[in-house]
Amino acid sequence: MASPTACWEPSSSKKTACHDGSNRLSQQDVSTIRPLQNLALIGFMGTGKSSVGQLVAEQLRFTFLDSDVMIEERTGKAISAIFEQDGEPVFRDWERRIVGELGARTKTVIATGGGLPADEANLASLKTHALVVCLWASPEKIWERVRHQTHRPLLQDADTLASIRRLLKLREPCYRRADVLVNTEMRSIRAVAQQVIHQFQMARTASR
Ligand code: S3P
Repeated sequence: MASPTACWEPSSSKKTACHDGSNRLSQQDVSTIRPLQNLALIGFMGTGKSSVGQLVAEQLRFTFLDSDVMIEERTGKAISAIFEQDGEPVFRDWERRIVGELGARTKTVIATGGGLPADEANLASLKTHALVVCLWASPEKIWERVRHQTHRPLLQDADTLASIRRLLKLREPCYRRADVLVNTEMRSIRAVAQQVIHQFQMARTASR
């Protein structure tokens, strides 16, 4: 499997610049993997996938989709209600169903729920039609961003920071399988969106 672009250092909260030549995925590699008609954003809760995704879609003149919103629309229930009433496995089934439909889309930016790429088949499916970009932040930064929010069923424990650390550690290998990793710390939503667009355009240019 191709290595992602190294623009982050997940096991440390220290911010580092990209080092040339280290763990880089060349644009040639991306272009030979798949057609890039879409752009998928993956990453942990609170990394800004929806906000960044909307901005990216607006600037690229793409349609914006959010897997959580799609599930809420289909089920007529909030995500927290699905977890509570039907259980997490039912929610994950919905995610798989949505992912299965995305391959038919073009010119779409897809913001995915934080746990969606933990299913390898979901990630593999996204990679058949989209450039997969992971937004990254340290557990502490994520905690700062989500600690006053109440809509995420997996972050309702008494010790939210501990839950974030545990879950992020578990999922880090999945997130690392993205084509491109973008550190969102110390960057505005607009700056992250610019970085995502830049990566997407480079990958698309190489694939022509
Ligand atoms: C989840 C992330 C949430 C949502 C659900 C489960 C997860 O989406 O899909 O609460 O497992 O990480 P966001 O990443 O958009 O918060």
